[in-house]
Amino acid sequence: MAQPVNGFSKLSKQDKINWLATNHFQNKEAGISILEQYWNNDAKLQALHDEFIENTVSNFYLPLGIAPNFLINGKYHTIPMALEESSVVAAAGKAAKFWQDRGGFKTSVLGSEKIGQVHFMYTGDTDKLKNFFNQIKPTLLKATEEITRNMRKRGGGISNIELRNKTEALDYYFQLHCTFETLDAMGANFINSCLETIAKTFKEEAQHYADFTSEEKNVEIVMSILSNYVPNCVVKAEVSCPIEDLNDDKGLSGQAFAEKFIRAIDIANAEPHRAVTHNKGIMNGIDAVVLATGNDFRAIEAGVHAYAAKDGSYKSLTHARIENGIFYFWIEVPLALGTVGGLTSLHPLVKLSLEILNHPSAKDLMQVVAVAGLAQNFAAVRSLITDGIQKGHMKMHLTNILNQLGATKEEKEYFVNFYKDKTVTHSGVINEFDRIRTNNG
Ligand code: MEV
Repeated sequence: MAQPVNGFSKLSKQDKINWLATNHFQNKEAGISILEQYWNNDAKLQALHDEFIENTVSNFYLPLGIAPNFLINGKYHTIPMALEESSVVAAAGKAAKFWQDRGGFKTSVLGSEKIGQVHFMYTGDTDKLKNFFNQIKPTLLKATEEITRNMRKRGGGISNIELRNKTEALDYYFQLHCTFETLDAMGANFINSCLETIAKTFKEEAQHYADFTSEEKNVEIVMSILSNYVPNCVVKAEVSCPIEDLNDDKGLSGQAFAEKFIRAIDIANAEPHRAVTHNKGIMNGIDAVVLATGNDFRAIEAGVHAYAAKDGSYKSLTHARIENGIFYFWIEVPLALGTVGGLTSLHPLVKLSLEILNHPSAKDLMQVVAVAGLAQNFAAVRSLITDGIQKGHMKMHLTNILNQLGATKEEKEYFVNFYKDKTVTHSGVINEFDRIRTNNG
């Protein structure tokens, strides 16, 4: 049972671990030893990780896998992926190989606009507010000049500030809707700093605006924060090939495959229960690259799912069609990513992942990430409409089951061979494992 504790963050790392062990571990020594097993031997590297967050007691590893052979706009890419789900990297590899022989992936960035908002309440005359805003807009921009100087030098900065009347949704609610170009930075800190300065200036200017009554002068700033919904920071990735080139070893003609594939997407568009799982498969690819490159996968997840619901119901992020005998399959997805700032220059594996990707700009990374999502969806839907998902899934999961059972290297080899032409099931593995262990003595 958890106990309340005061001043926990001020305790030393060792005292935090002792508190944890006393209050939460059945076997204190064993628990502490697991935490310590995941510490890095290099004290400097461990200190770096300790300081990423508060109250660090250990490191939580995820495998970093590599998916080579991604032909994107005529150039080969090796994609780093950090995740725990057994079949995802294998699926990426298969999709990369499939499309490598069919012209590869084509990508383009459709927009890179980031958004932040100052949310405020105003109870007075709307026309007066509009006049006030138009008058002070240059002052708002001027107030941020110090913060935006470097970004402007490189071609970015604040692209616009708009006054938006949201009183139909909520009484007295208005916003300053601000748009930004943050170049290679994800830009969260930059945007939030700009917004807080804009909000402060807006409030101060209102207090001195002669046309306002004393009540109107009293604008209430509620909050200033970036939005993770970025419908104009969008990238497109596409594959296409003549239908007959879709013939594969799954027993479907190219035409039948293409039609069934499109039907699978139609189902995702018609049925949110399916759309959520369909898009989850896409996020298997997207999140893995986002994590490996030190980006904020929670921001990406939130923005992507809002985008999937932008037309009023939750739909597929991917689309497919047949036109003049060509099968087209594509994704359009909002991805606010950065390749400078944040973890990108701090976490050694993030730096290495960016090196694997040949030091991409944020726009380059958007394209790679969208490809990872599209590839993952292709692999999943291809399996679903042919062999079913379990055949490949369970084959990859076999190692996890065997590790849980404590199988030896020889036993693992035996099982790979045993399941060459059979579908893996959890109970089947356990029965066969018991059988061979009993027989072997
Ligand atoms: C599993 O992680 C992802 C899938 O369920 C995606 C899908 O159903 O499209 C296989």
